Amino acid sequence: MSGSKVNGNVQLDENGQVTELPMIEGSVGPKVIDIRKLYAQTGHFTYDPGFTSTASCDSAITYIDGDEGVLMHRGYKIEELASQSDFMEVCYLLLKGELPNAQQKEDFTTSITYHTMLHEQLTKFFSGFRRDAHPMAIMVGVVGALSAFYHDSTDINDPRQRMIASHRLIAKMPTIAAMAYKYSVGQPFIYPRNDLSYAENFLHMTFSVPAEEYKMSPVISRAMDRIFTLHADHEQNASTSTVRLAGSSGANPFACIAAGIACLWGPAHGGANEAVLEMLDEIGSVDNVQEYINKAKDKNDPFRLMGFGHRVYKNYDPRAKVMQETCYEVLEELNMQDEPMLKLAMELERIALEDPYFVEKKLFPNVDFYSGIILKALGFPTSMFTVLFALARTVGWVAQWNEMMEDPARKIGRPRQLYTGPAERPFVPLDKR
Ligand code: SDX
Repeated sequence: MSGSKVNGNVQLDENGQVTELPMIEGSVGPKVIDIRKLYAQTGHFTYDPGFTSTASCDSAITYIDGDEGVLMHRGYKIEELASQSDFMEVCYLLLKGELPNAQQKEDFTTSITYHTMLHEQLTKFFSGFRRDAHPMAIMVGVVGALSAFYHDSTDINDPRQRMIASHRLIAKMPTIAAMAYKYSVGQPFIYPRNDLSYAENFLHMTFSVPAEEYKMSPVISRAMDRIFTLHADHEQNASTSTVRLAGSSGANPFACIAAGIACLWGPAHGGANEAVLEMLDEIGSVDNVQEYINKAKDKNDPFRLMGFGHRVYKNYDPRAKVMQETCYEVLEELNMQDEPMLKLAMELERIALEDPYFVEKKLFPNVDFYSGIILKALGFPTSMFTVLFALARTVGWVAQWNEMMEDPARKIGRPRQLYTGPAERPFVPLDKR
């Protein structure tokens, strides 16, 4: 594993039987105990449902320090990328490991731009869905079907085909996402335009109609681009781990990304941005905030404060701060500063961050808390919020998939278990049951 080295070991002493396990350290962050030989040497598995203490791989793409609230992509802090870079540069950085120079950026952006159209026959997939189908169901179906159209980029062992499939996925997600929206509102699909930036193109395909072009605002398109950057990658989260596990079997990249979309849909993960808006709608007024805070604290009540808490961040999610600033910018541009939803969200955040329960459990707002308010202000229905998360996260999934596929030591992922079922017992014939 490049970028890591053995640094000492730990000893496992079971009734005098000592097993030495090497410690491995990376460039920054916690060291790991290498347990790859544990079962062979001791006959024991480790046990870690939810993988709270497990490193599933080594990766050089994203680093998170949850205690300090730090998120870096290839060593660059998310705050700097969000304010000084743009989504095309971040895509290049995640895929290639370095920020592009001007020529590299132009070539990469041109490649993405010239892959934004879909095979025309794919448009027929949409008419098979009910108009009220959840757009995430459409995304899973259509993205999974891409492998039926792009056979020339499914040889996972060919680096060139992996790169083509990667560019196709990054380029076509906005087109598919916009089509899912158009289908749900009964409007005709709008084709991409090569004279627009990635974010502008998505806004155009979503909100233009044949009778009238969408009026592009630089503030809005910049905010859209920044929202994509904030969602681009996030280490080994549930959906990225799903993509890696699917890819470890040799499945084609389109199928792997469809698996990632399916996992992201869950309200505990990417579905939280949609759930935040539904929660704020349910709370309805600042007067009801305390009642819902109490529900969130009640062990017997399954209600959780959506947009709060995180498996890794036990400090403010650095993306949430940038998202909050973007929220103010967008609402000011749209003259919606007095948006009741924003005021309710700010009051909810203030009360929660003063409450000992949230302070002791280190439950801070995460990336999903403010994103829904921005997306609602931009005109997206709540059902499209997680679609936009999937659109932006595709580059992270693809970068992590490529990193795994380039690893010569790649193995199929196959966890074991702690078996708690019945021990062997004799079969009981039907007439004896
Ligand atoms: C994303 O992994 C990633 O990187 C994900 C993501 C990415 O970019 O890919 O960052 C995107 O998914 C952000 C998270 C979006 N989800 C939500 O906002 C949903 C609400 N949050 C929770 O469901 C929860 O916080 C999780 C799922 C995000 C994290 O759950 P964990 O790490 O498994 O923590 P936990 O459930 O064990 O909670 C620890 C304690 C529990 O209380 P105790 O059992 O210790 O008494 O905190 C409580 C929980 O009950 N708790 C909450 C809470 N989140 C945790 N209580 C009330 N409201 C909450 N939101």
